[in-house]
Amino acid sequence: MYSCAVVLAAGEGKRMKSTTPKVLHKVCGKEMINHVIDTLREADINDVNIIIGNGSEKVKENTISKNVSYSLQEKQLGTGHAVKCAKNFLEGKKGIVAIFTGDAPLVTTETVSKLVSFHQVNGFKGTILTSIVETPYGYGRVIREKNGEVKKIVEHKDCSEEELEVNEINAGMYCFDIDALLSSLDNLSNSNAQGEYYLTDVIEILKIKGEKLGAMPVPFEETMGVNSRVQLAEVEDIMRRRINNKHMENGVTLIDPKNTYIDAEVIIGNDTIIYPGNVIGGKTIIKKNCVLYPNSRIQDSTIESGVTIQSSVILESCVGNNTTVGPFAYIRPDSVIGKSVRIGDFVEIKKSTIGDHTKVSHLTYIGDAEVGENCNFGCGTVVVNYDGKNKYKTIIGDNVFIGCNTNLVSPITINNNSYIAAGSTITEEVPEDALAIARARQTNKEGWVTKKAFNK
Ligand code: UD1
Ligand code: CA
Repeated sequence: MYSCAVVLAAGEGKRMKSTTPKVLHKVCGKEMINHVIDTLREADINDVNIIIGNGSEKVKENTISKNVSYSLQEKQLGTGHAVKCAKNFLEGKKGIVAIFTGDAPLVTTETVSKLVSFHQVNGFKGTILTSIVETPYGYGRVIREKNGEVKKIVEHKDCSEEELEVNEINAGMYCFDIDALLSSLDNLSNSNAQGEYYLTDVIEILKIKGEKLGAMPVPFEETMGVNSRVQLAEVEDIMRRRINNKHMENGVTLIDPKNTYIDAEVIIGNDTIIYPGNVIGGKTIIKKNCVLYPNSRIQDSTIESGVTIQSSVILESCVGNNTTVGPFAYIRPDSVIGKSVRIGDFVEIKKSTIGDHTKVSHLTYIGDAEVGENCNFGCGTVVVNYDGKNKYKTIIGDNVFIGCNTNLVSPITINNNSYIAAGSTITEEVPEDALAIARARQTNKEGWVTKKAFNK
């Protein structure tokens, strides 16, 4: 049967106290609304309409790549009114519409699929997802008939004493027969405690019409919504645990999963070992057999197999097989580090390529450079790529040996198999096979200390 989805995302999210619309707050590196859209798509619901209102432009900008459509709700008059705003999207369609909210990102693909088939197999006109909770405070309560059939949903603020005792809550996620929903939306009224048009009232309207309704309880862990930063952190915690469990099931060792922070879209190969304090973000790919010792941040990067990293920052870069990075290295965007390279302590690489087997072991800056294979950078080498106004390029060939404390003033080319004496400031091209020395010759003044300077 045809199915589509409407995702409510027009609300303001006052309790977040934020200039960012609530649904754009991230959980494990991905906007909440994009979690919901991705989950719907994985459940084979492809035609997705987003109700936007507050911060509509920002919400659009951040979801546009998902190929969804939008309906504008200019004034937030309630969840029922929000769905009404999707009338153009729904009209003329025959089948099922799933309605979800953009601020509840923990619902799983399996649950969405189950909800749709539960709705369909039982021939319901409306089906709600529910949870049984200890403290139902704030949620709409699911009121059932004596025989267990769903009767209505009553919002917390409209509950009687008796209804407040009910601990089955409305998750705010539903399936409806499109025709049944459309024909009920016009009957909504806003004469309730909040003066809003409640989507939840559609359930009672359908019931009165004699339609069959269903309710499917799932663990609260899937239905939790985010209204505040505290809830955002709680949801993040659950999502993080799920992500980390998935990686462990795939053969990744996490020494301390509670202190390992991996974004939703990160890919990690098996037999990689990750120590605590690592923050791995964006679209990072880490291949197999890597060891990530504690406390690195790796963002939008590709780390090939067998790489060892410790206490370093790697941003938007690639690191080749069997290379070691750190401790305390900083690899900045657009860098490509080759295979079996050593990037040691206090080394910064910016927008540079480093060839295979090259060693940059300590205290070195390399910026805007192309470095060949099998080079050795002495301690304290600086690529002087900036003259205060412009940045220039440095080219270093293969098998170049650079002595300690060398400045390479860009633009400059250092050709293959050359050798630079320690302490040189190199300003001219170094030919192949040459030794370049660019420093003052040493003079020793014998007996100078006793004879003159410190004569007592
Ligand atoms: C809603 C349900 C409640 C349920 C709870 C689950 C109603 C009336 N109540 O309450 O039964 O237990 O969710 O979390 O539906 N929104 C709009 N336009 C509006 C109003 C809201 O797009 O005019 C969006 C919000 O951005 C949000 C979602 O709808 O994503 C839910 O709205 P919210 O005000 O948070 O509803 P609750 O009071 O939590
Ligand atoms: Ca809410």
